[in-house]
Amino acid sequence: MTLEEATKRVNQLKTDLIKWTRQYYVLDQPTVEDHVYDEHYLQLVELEKVFPNLVTPNSPTQRVGGQVLPGFEKVSHEVPMLSLGDVFSIEELSEFDQRLQKSVDAEVSYNAELKIDGLAISLTYENGVFVKGSTRGDGTIGEDITENLKTVKSIPLTLTEPISIEVRGECYMPTKAFVALNKRREEAGETVFANPRNAAAGSLRQLNTAETAQRQLSTFIYYIVDPNALDVKTQSDALKRLAELGFRTNTESRVTSDMTEISAYINEYQAKRHDLSYDIDGIVIKANLFTIHDEVGNTVKVPKWAIAYKFPPDEQETKVLDIEWTIGRTGVVTPTAIMNPVQLAGTTVSRASLHNGDLLKQKDIRINDMVKLHKAGDIIPEISEVVLDKRPDDSVVYILPTNCPVCGALLVHLDEEVALRCINPKCPALIKESLAHFASRNAMNIDGLGPKIVEQLFENKLISDVAGLYQLTADQLLTLDNFKEKSVNKLLNAIDISRQNSVERLLFGLGIRHVGAKAARLVSAEFKDIHQLMTATAEDILVIDSIGQVIADSLVTYFANDQVRELIDELDNAQVNLTFLGKTTAEIAELAEGSPVMDKKVVLTGTLDQLKRSDAKKWLEANGASVVGSVSKKTDLLIAGHDAGSKLIKAEQLEIEIWDEQQFISVMEGVSYEKN
Ligand code: IVH
Repeated sequence: MTLEEATKRVNQLKTDLIKWTRQYYVLDQPTVEDHVYDEHYLQLVELEKVFPNLVTPNSPTQRVGGQVLPGFEKVSHEVPMLSLGDVFSIEELSEFDQRLQKSVDAEVSYNAELKIDGLAISLTYENGVFVKGSTRGDGTIGEDITENLKTVKSIPLTLTEPISIEVRGECYMPTKAFVALNKRREEAGETVFANPRNAAAGSLRQLNTAETAQRQLSTFIYYIVDPNALDVKTQSDALKRLAELGFRTNTESRVTSDMTEISAYINEYQAKRHDLSYDIDGIVIKANLFTIHDEVGNTVKVPKWAIAYKFPPDEQETKVLDIEWTIGRTGVVTPTAIMNPVQLAGTTVSRASLHNGDLLKQKDIRINDMVKLHKAGDIIPEISEVVLDKRPDDSVVYILPTNCPVCGALLVHLDEEVALRCINPKCPALIKESLAHFASRNAMNIDGLGPKIVEQLFENKLISDVAGLYQLTADQLLTLDNFKEKSVNKLLNAIDISRQNSVERLLFGLGIRHVGAKAARLVSAEFKDIHQLMTATAEDILVIDSIGQVIADSLVTYFANDQVRELIDELDNAQVNLTFLGKTTAEIAELAEGSPVMDKKVVLTGTLDQLKRSDAKKWLEANGASVVGSVSKKTDLLIAGHDAGSKLIKAEQLEIEIWDEQQFISVMEGVSYEKN
């Protein structure tokens, strides 16, 4: 590829990837499937490797992080980052409103917004390019977290206009990401975050920015330091302008003209807050007109033109009846408090994870204690504290178990972890959990093989390890409860289908310590075959971008084990695929040069006989085309099935290249085709 060709291709890839990132992370409207994004992204990585001069600061490849910062520099905020005054009742809110109306001597209308429970951030752009991002700190001096913020995909690296501005908003961790992060941390024996806010704070202050990049943070921007720069006169218009510039803004805000409307807004969101995908802790009302902001000004700490109404805490008291210990697939033993059921944030709650023994000791939770219960991230039940006044006189300190509650083996702390682990590889609980993980959706995806069936298979001694799944027979399954011929065939078929999986699913399914789905994919794409990986050294594995020492060492240790090698042989004998079936990075780069539809805008029309339209679309997108709905001058190619109508006529008029279905299939198969 010449430099000129590479420049053109790199620019096109960047434009598409930036557009898709914006659609996904800013507008919440994805338009392409993940694999299409991934393939284009990998092409860009490859091309930038060959032509390093083409790397620009706004390239999507610059968001992966990987820099290890020595520490965070201090940043002084020229315009202080203010906090907000709080009120806790409608009466207090109404008093604030009256005070403000009096001081400006006019009816004030407000922009009512959600109060996002995250961390305030400030972003500076010069000529439309993101140059600095910082935390609030004490309001005057914050910390420079530019490199961390670059990994947050909803923050545009370039704006849609080349202007210089400073904006502020909230960086937060979506509830789903928080739940998944804590689950991963608990499984890995690490401490968990108490709420999404702490998780976001911890993620932003990572010195290794690759770690921040993994945390799926998001943002809402709600403030322009100098609104005159954007020629907007109200907060509601400022939010619109911010969105036009490429920022993610919260679309739930509303202009309200009196306290009745504000109360309605509060009630509406107090009810809806549990359905949002992020945590809010109240609502904020801001005088909508900026002239009012200038007129009333700020105190040292808070603006006089805005106030926060804080939701009452959703908390319940209940009694701890028991503490149950369960074993996860990694052997971590986790305590769960079993309590009298109570209604909390929309659901009935009777269990709360206590995460690890240290936390249980720290909170000194005892059987029969009354405890305060809330939901972290509005979703996960958590005991905040014991109500000591109500502790029974005869209460005794809870004694942590020393042995595995299932197999009786001695529990241990590995590498100073907080978690207690059962490290007996024959522990039935551990085996059952790993079997269920192997079959789960992101691993081998064996439909119908959930934890309950795994339990039955294991208890009836039909399987003892994952290779055993592939030896199961219909006769054996028919001996199980609720298994009839139809369900037996269905399960055997699902197990059989899983033999064809690309190897990254197996690699993830094996449950190797520290090897998540993403690492499994990267490693598989690099080594192509599990046997190759089994002979690799840690140095060989470290060649892969974003795979660190911990994962590399864990893989090497795992495959050095004789039992593991035996297991892989058994899987091989059972005809389980051990190779990578996806495209490797080199193949994708090759594709960039070889694809006949690369960069083409393609329209599909008419009825296709041999292909499903969705498959045709998938193939086109995977090969670098973008499939659009209507024919215009910009269309490069029309693929017309039979009974094509107006789109075909228009394409003919515009002299656009037209393929029929057969021609398209030939191209897909890489066969040259002569149209007759
Ligand atoms: S306005 C001068 N709007 O709440 C502007 N703040 O408790 C002051 N917050 O430090 C901030 N959502 O981190 C504003 N829609 C929103 C907000 C919001 C969350 C945070 C912000 C602020 C804190 C004050």
